[in-house]
Amino acid sequence: MRSGTDRETASSGVGSSGVGSSGAGLEAIESASIDELRALQLDRLKISVERAYSNVAHYRKSFDAAGVSPAAITSLDDLAKLPLLAKADLRDNYPFGMFAVPRTDVVRIHASSGTTGKPTVVGYTQNDIDMWSQVMARSIYAAGGRRGDITHVAYGYGLFTGGLGAHYGAEKLGCTVIPMSGGQTEKQVNLIIDFEPRIILVTPSYCLNLIDEMERQGIDPTSTSLEIGIFGAEPWTDAMRLEIEQRMGIDAVDIYGLSEVIGPGVAQECVETKDGPTIWEDHFYPEVIDPDTGHVLPDGSEGELVFTSLTKEAFPIIRYRTRDLTTLLPGTARTMRRMAKVTGRSDDMLIIRGVNVFPTQVEAEILKVDGLAPHYVLETSKQGNMTALTVRVEETGGLAAVDRERAAADLAALVKNNIGVTAAIDVVPPGGVPRSQGKAQRVVES
Ligand code: DLL
Repeated sequence: MRSGTDRETASSGVGSSGVGSSGAGLEAIESASIDELRALQLDRLKISVERAYSNVAHYRKSFDAAGVSPAAITSLDDLAKLPLLAKADLRDNYPFGMFAVPRTDVVRIHASSGTTGKPTVVGYTQNDIDMWSQVMARSIYAAGGRRGDITHVAYGYGLFTGGLGAHYGAEKLGCTVIPMSGGQTEKQVNLIIDFEPRIILVTPSYCLNLIDEMERQGIDPTSTSLEIGIFGAEPWTDAMRLEIEQRMGIDAVDIYGLSEVIGPGVAQECVETKDGPTIWEDHFYPEVIDPDTGHVLPDGSEGELVFTSLTKEAFPIIRYRTRDLTTLLPGTARTMRRMAKVTGRSDDMLIIRGVNVFPTQVEAEILKVDGLAPHYVLETSKQGNMTALTVRVEETGGLAAVDRERAAADLAALVKNNIGVTAAIDVVPPGGVPRSQGKAQRVVES
């Protein structure tokens, strides 16, 4: 496998001017000491909390109700005194009620669709866009991307933050950007062959579609110019990383983000360690809480990730509950802390006869079975008071009936033994599971 850092060592750390990710190396803050980082965070936290309190009615009300004023924040630990913010609070202030600047200072709006009700609307000042571009440039650099690299962006452009976020970051780094967006799978493959990108940014599930399409066209997916894939916007496993790396001959790294916090580029896995995304803590302060009690958990414990923005102007968020389950880990390739790969969203968690099940757990088992492809969906149905689970999964193609039955039995046994639930397995032909053009929908109710 080619290494994304062959041409230059990502940790060479030559940048100290704050323009590091514009092709020159690391930004100074990426290799600052923990003490320097914490001091910067505290300074920024005080300003961010004050900005939210003074300019957004929701924060004023909720801080007053909790009896805490911005002046109570004298250490990073004091953050825990402030109330948590939930998606419902954002919905209640639809569309622009959470903005902390006059609407005329907002240069961009994005929105996340959400499955029910109104979308969540977020806004950016020009400074916010610049900061976002910088953290995205830093992310692509950490993934092994360099100035001049041809970069194929297959995240959707539009209200979704994926496409434009990746686009601005890649331009900031000095890449040559192909703004392909999602969909038009055949054309995506043609352009990859013709334009010879080194980097692709895409959801892991859609990348699998691209690999299948290459094979359909008789192209060996390991033979393309691609060397680095920056995959996120949905949960995916280390088993899926291996599958994509082997089938495509690339380095596959994880990028995390959400619209409410900024978009993609909240955290990025470094290609030299591939040990979970590094959180860009100089802009986004993380906590992990017990989702039931709301209490802050020590680093190293799994819980719900909560973010506080330290520098955002238009849409500051104070203690926003992401609903993503993960663990905070110490820094390795950078001083800043990492997050473990997201296990799943609390929204996607199924409870099957009392056992919590995430789609990522099933994905890891599917990838152990010969003859099965990681195109899958979990279907739940009510049987009296019980919820029954069916795993619908594609075979890789050309399986004899006996092998299909064997694959189904193997998967049922793995799911029973390793996850602890009984599931019906429905092995379908290639193309039998609806394909995503962006984020895959992993759970459906029948
Ligand atoms: O998905 C932003 C993004 C775009 C991230 C492109 C990475 C790449 P939203 O549409 O607001 O924003 O969805 C955010 O997606 O709370 C997670 O549940 C999930 N998610 C995003 N990245 C990852 C990841 C974008 N690397 C929601 N691993 C988040 C697991 C992820 N889940």
